Amino acid sequence: METPKPMQPPVPASAAAEVLDIDRSDLRYRRWLSEAVAKVHADANRSADTHLLSVPLPADWGVDLYLKDESTHPTGSLKHRLARSLFLYALCNGWIRPGRPVIEASSGSTAVSEAYFARLIGVPFVAVMARGTVRAKVELIEFQGGTCHLVDDACEVYGTAARLARETGGHYMDQFTYAERATDWRGNNNIAESIFRQMAEERHPVPAWIVATAGTGGTSATLARYVRYAQATTGICVADPENSAFFPGWRDGDASATTETASRIEGIGRQRVEPSFVPGAIDRMMRVPDAASIAAIRVLERLLGRRAGASTGTGLWAAFRIISEMRERGEHGSVVGLLCDPGERYVEKYYSDGWLASQGIAIGPYVKRLEEFLQSGVLEGPGADRSAPEAG
Ligand SMILES: Cc1ncc(COP(=O)(O)O)c(C=O)c1O
Repeated sequence: METPKPMQPPVPASAAAEVLDIDRSDLRYRRWLSEAVAKVHADANRSADTHLLSVPLPADWGVDLYLKDESTHPTGSLKHRLARSLFLYALCNGWIRPGRPVIEASSGSTAVSEAYFARLIGVPFVAVMARGTVRAKVELIEFQGGTCHLVDDACEVYGTAARLARETGGHYMDQFTYAERATDWRGNNNIAESIFRQMAEERHPVPAWIVATAGTGGTSATLARYVRYAQATTGICVADPENSAFFPGWRDGDASATTETASRIEGIGRQRVEPSFVPGAIDRMMRVPDAASIAAIRVLERLLGRRAGASTGTGLWAAFRIISEMRERGEHGSVVGLLCDPGERYVEKYYSDGWLASQGIAIGPYVKRLEEFLQSGVLEGPGADRSAPEAG
C-alpha cells in the first residue's frame, strides 16, 4: 500500500462546495524542482560506470567468476544508484520540497548516499539507524552534511523515521517500500544493463547465474526483472544471511514472515520481508551462515587484494557454491556477483578478531573449506547439502 503523502492544506468544508477549480501550480517551486533534477542528472553524467572485476579461478574449470565493483561510486556502495533513483522519484512525485528535510530509515549505506544527494540539492538530511551501525558509516553521513538519529532496536527505524518526517514537515524517503519501483529496471544504465554490456565480450557472455543479496530487495528486483525483460536465461540467486526474514518468507510464500533478531551482516538481511522484495522474480535463494560470509571476504582479500563488506561475502559464498555445482555437472559458463561496499568501513567489525570472538563467530572452518574449494573446485559445508531444510 502506498504511504499517504503530505498534501496542500485541504479546502475548508464550508468553502469546498463552492470551489470547483483549484490551481496549486507554483512557478518558484517548479524552478527549484527543475534545478534539483538537473543537479542530480549532472551528477550521473559526471559518473563513470563501475568495473566488472574478474576473480581469478583455474582457467581449466571452464567457469568464470566476475564481481561488479559497486564500491567505486562517489559514496562507496551500490546504494549510490538507489539514492539517485529515489531522489529523482521523490522529486518528480512532488514529495521533496525546498528547505524541508529528507528522513530515511537505513542500515547506513543508503543514508551515506542519500546525504550526498540531499546536500547536492540543498535540503537537510536525517538518517535513522540502529545503534549498532559501524561508527565509520555515521562519520560518512555526517561528512556529507547529514544528521544521524540512532535507535536501540533495529525494528524501530521505520516508525521513528515516519514520525520525524511528520513532526518536521519533511519527507520519509522509505527505501524499503520504494526501492524496487524507483529504479528504471528496463535499462538506462541500471546495474543489470551495465553487467550485460560489460559481459558482452567475455567467453561466456550471458551469465548462468547472477548472485545478489537483499536489504531492500531493490537490487535483486532490478536484476531479475531485467533478465526476464531481456529474455536471457540467466538465473537470479539471492544469498541471505542468518536472522533474515527474506529466506523463510520466500520459501514459504509468506510475506508476513519475521525474525526475532537483527542481521549481523550490515546492509542485508531484514527482520521482515520488505515491500521492495519481489519474490516471484527470484529463481533461487540460499541461506549463508554469517561465519561463511566473513570467511569469504577474508579469502577475497587474498584473491583480489581488496577488502569488502560482509554482504559481499554472503553473495560470494553462494557464487562459489553455484560454481562448485556447475563443476560437478561438468557445465561451463559464467557467474556474476556484486562487490557491494568497501571493507575499510568494517575494520572494527568483520576484520577484527576481537569482534568475531565477542559474537562467537568462528570463521576458521569456512576459510579452510574455501581454500580447499579454490584447489579442488568442490565446496562442501552449509549451503552445500541441497536436501537440508535451509538450503535453497
Ligand atoms: C552493503 C550492502 N550490500 C547489499 C545491499 C542490498 O541491496 P538492496 O537494498 O538493493 O537489496 C545493501 C542494502 O542496504 C547494502 O547496504
